[in-house]
Amino acid sequence: MASPSCPALLATCLALQLATARGDGCSGFGNLFTEITENSAHGSLVARLPPAGDTGSGGLQLCLTGADATWFYLDGRSVRLNVSAGRALDREELESPVLMVALTCAEDGFSPVEYRIIVQVLNENDNRPHFQGATVLTHNISELAAVHSVVFSAQAEDADGDTLMYVIDTASPDARFFRIDLPNSGKVVLARALDFESRQQLEVVVTAVEMNTKERFNASARVRVNVLDGDDQYPQFLPCTPRTHQGLTVCTSPVYTANVTEGQLQGGPLSFSPGSVYAEDGDRGLRAAITYSLLAGRDGDTGTR
Ligand SMILES: *[C@@H]1O[C@H](CO)[C@@H](O)[C@H](O)[C@H]1NC(C)=O
Ligand SMILES: *[C@@H]1O[C@H](CO)[C@@H](O)[C@H](O)[C@H]1NC(C)=O
Ligand SMILES: *[C@@H]1O[C@H](CO)[C@@H](O)[C@H](O)[C@H]1NC(C)=O
Ligand SMILES: *[C@@H]1O[C@H](CO)[C@@H](O)[C@H](O)[C@H]1NC(C)=O
Repeated sequence: MASPSCPALLATCLALQLATARGDGCSGFGNLFTEITENSAHGSLVARLPPAGDTGSGGLQLCLTGADATWFYLDGRSVRLNVSAGRALDREELESPVLMVALTCAEDGFSPVEYRIIVQVLNENDNRPHFQGATVLTHNISELAAVHSVVFSAQAEDADGDTLMYVIDTASPDARFFRIDLPNSGKVVLARALDFESRQQLEVVVTAVEMNTKERFNASARVRVNVLDGDDQYPQFLPCTPRTHQGLTVCTSPVYTANVTEGQLQGGPLSFSPGSVYAEDGDRGLRAAITYSLLAGRDGDTGTR
C-alpha cells in the first residue's frame, strides 16, 4: 500500500489496515463534541471513533491536524490524551478551554474527508486562592475614619474562578476593630473608633475561602493597619502633667514663673521655671506649627507705681 499523504505540520497519523468497501471507509465518521477533565493522565480516552463502514479491501489513513493536535494521539480507533510529566493539560494555562482538531480520513484513491473533534477541557479545583503581593498587606487609616465605614478592601484571586468569601480571623490580635458585612466583597468595615494617641498600629488576619468547591481551599493575609494621626488634640504646654478625664488623658498647663528684680533692666529672655514657655501639638503625628500670643494679663500693672 502506498503511504497516503498527510499534512506534515502538527499531524499525528495512523494507517489502519482495515478491510473496507472501497469508498466507504470514512463514511461512518462525523464531527465529534466531547469533554475531558484537566490534569487527566496520559492515554486517557478522549473519543472513540465509530467503526468503519461496510467491509471491503482498502487501506484507511486517519490524521489529527491543527495547532491542538499535539494534545492527542490515535490509538486504533481511539483518540487519546497526549501529556507528559512536564506538560499537563492545565485548563488555566490554555488559551481557550476548548481544543479543536481536524480529523482527516483518507482512503486510497479517494479524496480525504475532514471532520472536527471539539474537546472541552473541564475545570478541576487545582488552584488555591491567593492574595496578591506580600503576605503582609499595609493600609493607612486616619484615626478620624468613621465607624461603620469601609476602611480597606481585601482582594484574593482564584485561578479556577471559584467564588470567594472573606472572613476576619477572630483570633487575630485586633480583630475587634474590624468587620466584614458583605462576605463576597472583601470590604472591611471599621467596627470601633481608632485613636492614634493610644494605638498607632493594628494587626488583623483576613481569610479568603472558596465557597463553591468541596475542597474549600483558603488563603490568609496579615493586614497591618497604620493609624494616622488626625487633628483631634489641642496643643499642650510642656511639661505636661497628665490628668485622666473620662478615659481621655489631657495635660494640665503648667504655671510658669520667672523672677525679675525691681528697678533693674533685664537683658535677654526671662528664665522660667519649670521650663521655658513651650507648647506642642497634642497630635504627635501631625506636629502642627504653634503660634503664641498674649491674650490678657496685667503686664505693666503690677510693679508700677
Ligand atoms: C505528544 O506531545 C509531545 C510534546 O508536545 C510531542 O512532542 C509529541 O509529538 C506528541 N505525540 C504525538 C503522538 O502527537
Ligand atoms: C502609609 O504611610 C506611609 C508614611 O506616611 C507611606 O510611606 C506609605 O506609602 C503609606 N502606605 C500606603 C499603603 O498608603
Ligand atoms: C483554612 O484551611 C485550613 C487548612 O485546610 C483549615 O484548617 C482552616 O480551618 C481553614 N480556615 C478557614 C477560615 O476556613
Ligand atoms: C526665683 O527666686 C526664688 C527665691 O530666690 C528661687 O527659689 C526660684 O528658683 C527663682 N525662680 C526662678 C525661675 O529663677
